[in-house]
Amino acid sequence: MLLVSDLTRLFGASSANSAGLHPLSFSLKDGTFFTLLGPSGCGKTTTLRCIAGLERPDRGSIRLGDTVLFDDADGIEVPLNQRGIGMVFQSYAIWPHMSVFNNVAFPLRVTRGTKPSASEIEALVEDALRRVDLSGFGPRSPTQLSGGQQQRVALARAIVRKPRLLLLDEPLSNLDARLRDEMRAELKRLQRELGITTVYVTHDQSEALELSDLIAVLDKGKLRQLGSPREIFFDPADSFVANFMGSPNLLAGRTLADVAAGGMGQVELANGHTLVCRFPRTLAAGSSTTVSLRPEAIRVTTPEQPPTSDGEINRLDGRLISLDFQGYGSRCLVDIGGHSLQANIDSRAGIGANAAVALTFPATEALALSQ
Ligand SMILES: Nc1ncnc2c1ncn2[C@@H]1O[C@H](COP(=O)(O)OP(=O)(O)O)[C@@H](O)[C@H]1O
Ligand SMILES: [Mg+2]
Repeated sequence: MLLVSDLTRLFGASSANSAGLHPLSFSLKDGTFFTLLGPSGCGKTTTLRCIAGLERPDRGSIRLGDTVLFDDADGIEVPLNQRGIGMVFQSYAIWPHMSVFNNVAFPLRVTRGTKPSASEIEALVEDALRRVDLSGFGPRSPTQLSGGQQQRVALARAIVRKPRLLLLDEPLSNLDARLRDEMRAELKRLQRELGITTVYVTHDQSEALELSDLIAVLDKGKLRQLGSPREIFFDPADSFVANFMGSPNLLAGRTLADVAAGGMGQVELANGHTLVCRFPRTLAAGSSTTVSLRPEAIRVTTPEQPPTSDGEINRLDGRLISLDFQGYGSRCLVDIGGHSLQANIDSRAGIGANAAVALTFPATEALALSQ
C-alpha cells in the first residue's frame, strides 16, 4: 500500500552525521496503523512532510498503491493536493474566522478536477463530523470549541475527502492528560472504522505501544528498529531502543564468548558479576554489551529465601537503597556494588530500606544488547 524506499533528506552539509533523514525504507499493508517513534529531532516530521509532498526528498521513492508519488530517479513528483492524503498537525491549524462546517469543507472545495456539488459537500461534511462525534457542530465558530474539539475538527477535515492515507504529526501533544487518553482511544476506533492506512508521529512510547500495528524507532534520522509493539518492547534491537522504551536497568558489560542471535550466553558486568543472558543479535566474544533488565522481571527477597536456583536463574546480592510505595507494589532501588537496579517488590513483603536482599531473574529476561 505505502512503499517508502531509501528516502533521504539531509539539511546542511551532507555527511553521515548531518541533520535530517538518512536512507529510510519501509512498506505498509493496507489499513496498517504505523508509528514513527523517537526523540525530538530524529526526523519524524521530515518523513511525514516528504510523504505529504510538503518537503522534497534528496533521494528515494514513495509509492501509494499503484501511484508513484515521488521518485528522484524518474523525476516524478506529484503535487501535494493531488496525493489523496489527509494530514493533521500538532497545532490544529484550523481557521478561526471560518465556521466548523467551512473548515471541514475546505479540502472538498479546493479539490482539483470535478468539484462535489453543494449537497454532496453537505453530506460528506456531516459524515466526517459524525465520525469524530461532532454532529451538529457545523454552524459554530472554532473559537467556541475546546482544544479537544478543535482537534476533532482538524481530524474531520483530514478524513472528509476519504483519503487513501492519513498522516498524523503528534496530534495529541497539545491536549491535557485526560483528554489525550480519551482522544487516543477515539483515534484508534476511527482508524479501525475507516480502515485507513495511517502514519502516526509521536515521541511518547506508551502512545505508540497502544495505538500501533507496526512501529519504527528512529534516532538521528536512522532507523533503529522496525517491529510490532511487542517486539519493540520485549525484544529491543539495541540499547538505544531499550533505553527509549523506558527500560531503567541498563548494565554495561562484556560478552565472554561468541553467541548467535537468539542464543544464551554469559556476560561479565563491569563490577565483576557474571549473568546468563539472552542475545537478540549475534555478538562476538569480548564485545561491549548493555544488559537490559525489566524491573517486573526481578524478584526481590531476603538473601536466605531466594527461589531454587537452576542454571537459567541469575542471582545478584545487594542492599535496598530506597522504596517508593505505589500501591500493591513498591518500586525499589537496589545497590549491587557499582550498579543500582530498579525492581518491583510486594509492598507487604516486609523488606525495608537498608535490608540486605537477593535479586533473582530468569536468564531469558536479561537481554544482552549491542550499543
Ligand atoms: N528546514 C530545515 N532546515 C534545517 N534543518 C532542518 C529543517 N527541518 C528539519 N531540520 C532538522 O532535521 C532534523 C529532524 O527534524 P524533524 O523531522 O523536525 O524531527 P522530529 O519531528 O523527529 O522532532 C532536526 O535536527 C532538525 O533540526
Ligand atoms: Mg516533529
